[in-house]
Amino acid sequence: MVKVLAFSGSTRSGSLNQALVENAADAAREAGAEVTVINLADYAMPIFNQDEEDEYGIPERAQAFKQLLIDHDAFLIASPEYNSSYPAVLKNAIDWASRKAGDEAVLAAYKNKVVGLMAASPGALGGMRVLVVLRMLMQNLMCVVTPAQVSVAKAADKLTDAGKLTDDTVKKQLANLASQVVSMAEKLKD
Ligand SMILES: Cc1cc2nc3c(=O)[nH]c(=O)nc-3n(C[C@H](O)[C@H](O)[C@H](O)COP(=O)(O)O)c2cc1C
Repeated sequence: MVKVLAFSGSTRSGSLNQALVENAADAAREAGAEVTVINLADYAMPIFNQDEEDEYGIPERAQAFKQLLIDHDAFLIASPEYNSSYPAVLKNAIDWASRKAGDEAVLAAYKNKVVGLMAASPGALGGMRVLVVLRMLMQNLMCVVTPAQVSVAKAADKLTDAGKLTDDTVKKQLANLASQVVSMAEKLKD
């Protein structure tokens, strides 16, 4: 069974993107995957500094996050758009997990992992611009990003207080994204 790790680029309580990725996780379970949802708030790590890495190595929580990436076949990532790009907290976690420790292969966390991308915003553009740069970033790390991606505009109006999606169009888009992630990951595992 394909193992999917789902996380967002927001550590905010009440995050729209964390809610979106949890809905996408349900869709991936429906598509037949085993899904683990995490919150980057539980993996707080220092801003990357190569001098500190040389002296102390990879911090425990950064290594724990990287190990989760290594242990899964695919990722579902929902990111806020901050000034047209990804938030520092997401890029920092991705950067730490790109660092090699011990006998690990180069880019062990990323190589040939399938990625499904989403963005949610209270604004009218739905975070479309972050999807462009996040796709480029993940592909440069040797991930395989699915053709489908989902951006949710006016996201606060499309989620209940408990974080459940109410919009049928977005639900269908998530089902399509999840099915692409699971089927591509199954093929890459063979
Ligand atoms: C520094 C900063 C920059 C932002 N830039 C954008 C932006 O470029 N586009 C956008 O749609 N929303 C932007 N926003 C608003 C976010 O979309 C909004 O805060 C959203 O709720 C963040 O996602 P979250 O709910 O998952 O934390 C920005 C917010 C912050 C704090």
